[in-house]
Formats: sequence, C-alpha cells, structure tokens
Amino acid sequence: MRIALIILAAGKGTRMESDLPKVLHKIAGAPMLVHAMQSGAALEPERVIVVAGHGAEKVEAAALDHDPEAQIVVQSEQLGTGHAVAQSRDALEDFDGDAIVLYGDTPFISDATLEKMVAARKGADVVVLGFDAADPARYGRLILDGDRLDRIVEYKDATDEERAITLCNSGLIAADSATLFDLLDAVGNDNAAGEYYLPDIVAIARDRGLSATAVTCDEAETLGVNSRAELARAEALFQARARAALVADGVTMQAPDTVFLSWDTAIGRDTEVEPNVIFAPGVTVESGARIRAFSHLEGCHVSRGAVVGPYARLRPGAELAEDVHVGNFVEVKNAQLATGVKANHLSYIGDADIGAGTNIGAGTITCNYDGVFKHRTVIGEGAFIGSNTMLVAPVTVGDAALTGSGSVITSDVPAGDLAMGRARQENKPGMGRKLMEMLRARKVRQQKGQD
Ligand code: UD1
Ligand code: CA
Repeated sequence: MRIALIILAAGKGTRMESDLPKVLHKIAGAPMLVHAMQSGAALEPERVIVVAGHGAEKVEAAALDHDPEAQIVVQSEQLGTGHAVAQSRDALEDFDGDAIVLYGDTPFISDATLEKMVAARKGADVVVLGFDAADPARYGRLILDGDRLDRIVEYKDATDEERAITLCNSGLIAADSATLFDLLDAVGNDNAAGEYYLPDIVAIARDRGLSATAVTCDEAETLGVNSRAELARAEALFQARARAALVADGVTMQAPDTVFLSWDTAIGRDTEVEPNVIFAPGVTVESGARIRAFSHLEGCHVSRGAVVGPYARLRPGAELAEDVHVGNFVEVKNAQLATGVKANHLSYIGDADIGAGTNIGAGTITCNYDGVFKHRTVIGEGAFIGSNTMLVAPVTVGDAALTGSGSVITSDVPAGDLAMGRARQENKPGMGRKLMEMLRARKVRQQKGQD
C-alpha cells in the first residue's frame, strides 16, 4: 500500500500565548510536529505533506530538518480542516495511493493505531479514527449506523441528543487520495463555524454510495496540545512512558522520575542510570554502561563499560569508546575518547582525539578556541597528561608521552617524550619563615595604630 501523510499544522495556537507556532513547541526535545511525522513514519509513507500557515517558514524549516523529503504547502488563511487538506491537492495530483490526515498538534498516535486504520481501509472507503471520551467536551461526535459510520457532527452544530454521544472524532482520516480530494470538492462552509470541515467528507461519501467506518484508540493517544499547561502534561506523559519502556527493556534506574529523556534517547540493557540525569536529543548509550547522578548528555555516544559522572557534561560529538571514564565536572565536546581513556576530574576536552589508555589529569584543558577559529588537540595512546595541563591547540602529543603538571603545551610533543612547559621552581632557604615573621610584625604595629 502506497501512503501519503498530510499533516495539518497551519493553526496559530492562540492559547499557547507564544510567538512560536504551536506545532514547534517541543516535547522531549522535538517539536510536536516532529512527533507527528515520526508516528506517521511507521507507515513508511511515500510522501509527507505538511500544511503550514502561521509561522510557515519556521514550520517548514523544522519539517525539512527532520525529513528533507517532506513537502510543505501553505494555507495562508485558516478556513477549516477541510480547506487545509485541500491545499495539498496539487502536491498529490500524481499520487496513486492512500492519504492519511494527521494533526501536527496530536503527537502521541501509536504505530499500532495507524496500522489499524490502514487495515480498515480494506473494508471501507473512508476510515476515521475515533475514541471514547471520558469528557467529550467540544469534540466532533461520530454518528454510527450499525457498524458503519454515517456522519460526523461538530459540537457547535450538534443537537443535545448528538452531544450525548461519547464516541468522538480524533481528526485522523484515511482514504484513497483521489477520492479524498473529490469528496473535499463537495464540502461547503454553511455551518456554525463558517468553516470547511474535513469530517463532512464522511456524510458526502455515504451520499455517493461509498462506505465509511470508524476504528478506535485509547483516548490518551489522541491527546492534543492547546496550552502550555497541556504541553507540560504531554511532556510528563511522554517521560513516564519513555522511562517505563527503558526500564522494561533492562535499564536500571533507582529514581526513574528524576531522569529526563528525549524523543530519540537510546539506552542498552544492563546500563545503570543514576538519579537526576538529563538526556538531551541525540544520545545513544550502549549496554552495560553507567551514567552517574547529575550528568547532562547531548548528541553523544557512550560505549559498553563506560562510566560517566557524577556531574559530567557530554556535549554534541562526544564519542566515548569502551571502558572510558569521564568523571565529575568534566566537559567533553566534539571529541573521541578511545578505549580506556580516563578523564576523571575537572577538565574541558573539546575538539580532540585521545588515544586508548591515555590518562588526562585533573584540571586539564584543551584550549581549542583562539577567539575566531576552533583547533584540534590530538593525543596518542598510553599518554599521561599531568594535572592542570593547558593544551593550546592545534597541538599533538605522541603515544606514551608525558606532560608535567601545570604545563602550557604550545608545541607538539613527540612520542615517548616528557614535556615541561612551566617556570622552573627556585627555593630560597629560610625565606618562608622570615617573610611570615615580617608580616606578623606588621600586623601587630597596625593594631597598635603605629603604621
Ligand atoms: C477538529 C475536528 C473535530 C475533532 C477535533 C479533534 C473539524 C472541523 N473538527 O476540531 O471533529 O473532534 O479536531 O481534536 O475538523 N488546522 C489547519 N488549518 C485550518 C484549521 C485547522 O491547519 O484551517 C489544523 C490545526 O492547526 C490543528 C488541526 O488542524 O492542528 C485541528 O484544528 P482545530 O481548529 O484544532 O480543530 P478542532 O476545532 O479542535
Ligand atoms: Ca483542536
């Protein structure tokens, strides 16, 4: 089955009280729109059309960032969901297959539900996703005729009797693409809202002798976001599910509620995640690693047996090979740490390659930035970087080389050499005690008001 997704994302989202279009507000580090695109991706769609309106340029950028093949069509005036879908007519003119309409502000539709809709298309021309609402509020109501769907009535247009129905419209609809646009041609706006309602295609289909049916899903999946409060609730729901999924897959967490995950966080089994860890987007952690308390990870990869934190920061491009240790107050950015590298205390490692088994002493800094350009630091295998070494990049330290503590390393260190880049120490015999005596005497004079 060839499938095109049409994702409606033109609305302003007035109740968000935001300059940002609603669908670009993030849940677990990804815009809601991306969540919708992502759930639709399970159907391996041949086309993805995003209908943008408010903030169309930003919406387009976010959509293309996630899927460069997506097509954006602009609905410049929001005249209703039917009108929104109709904007994708040209983009799908040559498309032969099913179109499925999703909402950009409904991020939690499951793969299984979408697959159920596709399967139901074998028995009906139009398939609508419904749900049994605990509080049906202002949702559209599904009017059934036996096991067929007869029509959908919007709350504003419904009679009291119709409003008593709890089977509601999620908004998702599937139909053959050409049929969908044919049906939309007949949709008018003579209704309480003066809008072109997408759900009207159901009654029109029935009038034309086509069939319609409803499949249902859990109400939690159809959760839409209209306000910041609902956004926070959606975030909490996402986090709860994502934590539970990791724990079920064999990740140990002492306090799952304190661990924050992103939409794409991947963690292998037998990895332990201590309390208060944040996974920003783009993190993969292999099996059997340990992420200790209060660490912050983003855009990085942590291999088997590695230990990170407590209080470590892994920024984009940090690649930790097996058994690497990155300890407290160590920041790693755009750097490869080969097997068994240890950087246990108070360091900044940025734009660097560090060979296997090398030890980075406390307080070491790769000085990677000259104010305009970034430069790389390359350190070989089995090297020992003394505490508080400043590595002024670009600089290379060879295999098994050493740097003395407190060195400022500005030129390359050949393999096996010891580099010292600091002032030579000088001892003045007895001078320490003499100095202290002088100072104490001065203090006494001051206290007596003599100085
Ligand atoms: C819609 C359905 C209703 C359903 C409910 C589920 C219609 C007429 N009603 O109502 O049956 O129960 O969703 O949440 O379809 N949008 C556009 N362009 C437009 C109008 C809307 O892109 O011109 C987008 C919005 O940004 C939003 C989605 O379509 O993502 C739904 O629009 P909204 O106005 O929220 O529809 P509801 O009134 O909630
Ligand atoms: Ca809505």
